[in-house]
Amino acid sequence: MKHTFLFALALVLLNANAAPSRKLPRGEVQFRAYCIGCHSIGCNRGGPRLQDVFNRKAGTVPGFRFYTESLRNSGIVWSDESLDAFLRDPGKLVPGTGMAAIGRIDSARDRQDIIAFLRRQDKSIDLCF
Ligand code: HEC
Repeated sequence: MKHTFLFALALVLLNANAAPSRKLPRGEVQFRAYCIGCHSIGCNRGGPRLQDVFNRKAGTVPGFRFYTESLRNSGIVWSDESLDAFLRDPGKLVPGTGMAAIGRIDSARDRQDIIAFLRRQDKSIDLCF
């Protein structure tokens, strides 16, 4: 009896954590989990907007006031490869970057999915305020 109750409770908890019924693309799930607190595609927030990030020089989004000297002087141009290295270990690619303290994305698959999400430039989940 006790076990039945615990089992039912576990099912309820699992269900509360379940993904919404619309199946989100993996990169969107990762972006929501790791990036959306600071970044949107279309607007600057705690992090610079990620619109047209590919082929853009790092640290050059107009109106974003919180860039570090380190990122602005890094000479990086954003590509699949440089984004992958940045997300793997921001502080290693750009010592002193403001993103260094932020959780690194250890899984190569997750990094790829996030980069694919950035390629889609989907503004529908932007949090702009
Ligand atoms: C806690 C806030 C925060 C989180 C979370 C965060 N970032 Fe950032 N991001 C920043 C800040 C601040 C900068 C500027 C860093 C600097 O100038 O050194 C930045 C810079 C960047 C840049 C360089 C942009 C440019 O204009 O050169 C990219 C790309 C980026 N972040 C992607 C991501 C992705 C993808 C994630 C999620 C995996 C993420 N960030 C998570 C705050 C954040």
